[in-house]
Amino acid sequence: MEYKEIMSRLENIVSTDVHPIPEDTLTEERERFRDTHRKSLEIFERAKEVIPGGVEHNLSTSDPYPLTMDRVKGYKIWDIDGNEYVDYLLCGAPIILGHHFDPLDDEIIRIIQEKGPATGLTSEFEVLAAEKIIEHMPAVESVRFLQSGTEADMAAIRIARTFTEKVKIIKVGGSYHGWSDQLVTSLHIPGTGPLNCKGIPPECYAHTMDVPPNDVDALEKAFEEAGAQGGVAAVIVEPIGGESGTHPVHPDWNRTVREMCDSNDSLLIFDEVVSGFRVDMGGAQKYFNVMPDITVLGKIITHGYPSTGAVAGRKDVMDVIIRGMGQKPYLGGTLAGNPISTGACYHAIRLMEENDAVGKATAYANRLTKAMNDLFSTREDLPFFVYNYGPIMHYETSSFFQVSLTGPDPLNQIITRKKICEDYQMVAMNQGLNSLAGTRMYTCMQHDDDALDKTLETWEYVLSLIPKG
Ligand SMILES: Cc1ncc(COP(=O)(O)O)c(C=O)c1O
Repeated sequence: MEYKEIMSRLENIVSTDVHPIPEDTLTEERERFRDTHRKSLEIFERAKEVIPGGVEHNLSTSDPYPLTMDRVKGYKIWDIDGNEYVDYLLCGAPIILGHHFDPLDDEIIRIIQEKGPATGLTSEFEVLAAEKIIEHMPAVESVRFLQSGTEADMAAIRIARTFTEKVKIIKVGGSYHGWSDQLVTSLHIPGTGPLNCKGIPPECYAHTMDVPPNDVDALEKAFEEAGAQGGVAAVIVEPIGGESGTHPVHPDWNRTVREMCDSNDSLLIFDEVVSGFRVDMGGAQKYFNVMPDITVLGKIITHGYPSTGAVAGRKDVMDVIIRGMGQKPYLGGTLAGNPISTGACYHAIRLMEENDAVGKATAYANRLTKAMNDLFSTREDLPFFVYNYGPIMHYETSSFFQVSLTGPDPLNQIITRKKICEDYQMVAMNQGLNSLAGTRMYTCMQHDDDALDKTLETWEYVLSLIPKG
């Protein structure tokens, strides 16, 4: 779907009423949920005693309570009660070969058995993994492995400041670049500023500026403002739009940002933690044919195995890391670049190549996007729709991420609209469908006709619970 159509449909959703499932129906659904997820409840009760809120992960569902998962295989996930789900969360995007993919697992088991987990020194896998990344990503000449996307984003802005000797970082509102002190401003919803900065002294994010998505004038103004305040070291973007395309990117945006960075001697950072090896083997930089100076990677590069993050890019920029003492940005990590993670990276990318994982996951996502849009169009009273960037699908029902903070009663709007998404999500989980935050679906190369049928059946059921009108 074209950018213009996506934006006008989103605008239509947020400017019209929501479509709730009646509370008595939700009560019945929750009762059924409790019946079929008893062990999860038992574990949640224990977890609450020893883990804050009883749950570790931001992406867990919480209504009526988080589920405890047991195992995964292919596109499926099973909870501790034995319920089976078609999985579109895929661990938050790292999985594209399919969960628990034997040829990858076999390599990791071999590394553990033959080599051991880590030495604190370099292994050949680091080089193999870096070479594989460079082979595919056109703007990458040099790679430094770290332990998470958050760390890699922190490293990227530190490298940019060292290289340019400038201070300010411009981010796009609504984007996610991990949870470090400098980058959690204007998270999720553009314009929310320090809403998520509790526990961070304002001095820490004083040099982070944010602009609304796709707003060229605001970007120009930010560059002007920053000029007198130490200049812009880098603009950091999620190249498919904030939060993995939740705030869709205008087709000209990345190129415009590139040009503005060039004319201001600032660097462009692409955060490809989600888009890398997912929208294309060459990442969004290849997909849009716009080359960043620094690329941030994570998630998929270790395909579900731990310690996943890398900062990468132009060699002259990356080489600031090897300057002498007092001249270099300090980066590190005890387990960074360990043989298991870098072995997983090398073999995962090799297996993606051999299996055309991106091509297959994209073909499935295109098919499912069309099928869901066809299904939604059978309900003319509902404005629901789906769009996708390759194997990253967004299904829009109440679109709480799009609420404008300058509109009427924004906080209430966000809370109400978020609850609607969570209600649909709870019903879908009850039917055996797992997605992300009630708005997003990642696909893998193993999703098949059965998965597609089950997804459509589930949504038919969800729609049947929403009164017509
Ligand atoms: C675009 C983007 N950047 C950075 C991160 C942070 O990565 P990690 O969770 O590995 O710290 C994420 C995580 O979801 C992300 O989506």
